[in-house]
Amino acid sequence: MRFSKATALAVVASTVQAQRPENTSICDYYTTALLKDNTADNQATLLTLVVNTVVIGNYTQPNVGVKVAGILAPGTYNGTDVNLLPYFTGELASSNRGGDKGVSINFLDDGGAEPLKKNKPANTEGSTQYFLLTHLYQFFGSLLGCSKQGMPGFDAYTGHASMYEVHKFMALDPNEVGYFITQVGLAASSFGVADSDVQAVGKALISLFDYRCAPPTAVIESQGAQLQAICIADTCPLAANSTCDSYQPVVEPSSVSSSGSASATPTASYSTSPSGTTPVPTGSGNATSTGSTGSSSTVVPTAGAAANGLGLAAAAGGVLAFLL
Ligand code: HEM
Ligand SMILES: *[C@@H]1O[C@H](CO)[C@@H](O)[C@H](O)[C@H]1NC(C)=O
Ligand SMILES: *[C@@H]1O[C@H](CO)[C@@H](O)[C@H](O)[C@H]1NC(C)=O
Ligand SMILES: *[C@@H]1O[C@H](CO)[C@@H](O)[C@H](O)[C@H]1NC(C)=O
Ligand SMILES: *[C@@H]1O[C@H](CO)[C@@H](O)[C@H](O)[C@H]1NC(C)=O
Ligand SMILES: *[C@@H]1O[C@H](CO)[C@@H](O)[C@H](O)[C@H]1NC(C)=O
Repeated sequence: MRFSKATALAVVASTVQAQRPENTSICDYYTTALLKDNTADNQATLLTLVVNTVVIGNYTQPNVGVKVAGILAPGTYNGTDVNLLPYFTGELASSNRGGDKGVSINFLDDGGAEPLKKNKPANTEGSTQYFLLTHLYQFFGSLLGCSKQGMPGFDAYTGHASMYEVHKFMALDPNEVGYFITQVGLAASSFGVADSDVQAVGKALISLFDYRCAPPTAVIESQGAQLQAICIADTCPLAANSTCDSYQPVVEPSSVSSSGSASATPTASYSTSPSGTTPVPTGSGNATSTGSTGSSSTVVPTAGAAANGLGLAAAAGGVLAFLL
């Protein structure tokens, strides 16, 4: 993962035009289109570039002209202000470390944005930041059907299986989750991913994670069906076949006083969107929004759908393929 590769990638990105074949996963297609050889190393690089852009905003030069604020920057979703940064700095006692309430953790403890700008997860390999970022590369790699994942160069997902358990003390609402998903779509667009693919990713993320009380669903196939709702606030739309009894009552995270707690201070600053509005590229931002309206009874995939309905791209292991 050298920076020159990202630079070359960004140049190539503007020339990605052709339609992705149905039997090729999003990961494999864009790895080949942007990085030429469809290797485990290059798939890991693609996911590093996209996820780092989701987190800190667009940073590769040049780019295709899509501005990405990143999830650490304050923004708006559906007319509401959103600020996810406090969940990552330790300002909120919102992380699940096994107890019955959230704890404060600084996830930006190993360089913050600086290593991400160098296409790395963190400065070193043992930090909280390192594990969060590498787990995100792995998780999204699996969602996007990276066929070489699990081979040397790109590890299979090694994080927690239930996205509900991971996020349950965050009490996330539709605007927070919607903002996050919008940044994922914008990051993909910024690398030249076709609108149809961006929309498929957005729809899948919404259907898997954006409905409260969603029944157990397989996302990482080897981890089996798990509770996956990330949107759990009362204002989140109710899943089809909801199993609210499986979920605990939602508790808002408490603020942690910043009195001399060095760990709560990120070591780098984040570029914030000067406009304060969420930029929406062609199709993607509002595609993710509209995807959740009026269709809540049909879009939530069951464990069976995730496991069986994959069509040809199932060979590549992508859960997203059920939407293609
Ligand atoms: C579709 C939406 C999302 C997906 C797919 C997603 C996925 C993930 C994954 C895979 C992890 C790593 C879990 C592990 O290491 O075991 C994670 C952790 C985390 N996510 Fe999300 N996430 C989403 C939305 C959000 C939102 C909206 C927030 C709001 C701030 C958020 C905040 C966090 C934090 C703070 C962690 C670290 C948790 C910990 O280690 O305790 N995520 N997420
Ligand atoms: C995908 O399908 C095309 C023809 O439609 C074929 O040439 C190609 O080999 C297939 N690729 C894979 C990975 O199966
Ligand atoms: C992000 O993308 C926008 C739009 O292309 C561009 O104007 C801006 O310079 C980029 N920011 C960085 C840090 O590369
Ligand atoms: C996109 O969504 C935003 C927020 O819901 C809304 O204000 C805007 O009018 C929408 N734009 C389009 C083109 O639908
Ligand atoms: C946006 O907000 C309005 C009013 O609060 C709500 O009715 C609508 O469902 C929201 N749309 C989305 C996509 O969240
Ligand atoms: C709801 O459950 C029924 C019965 O198990 C199943 O046939 C249907 O597909 C499920 N619907 C969704 C959207 O998961």
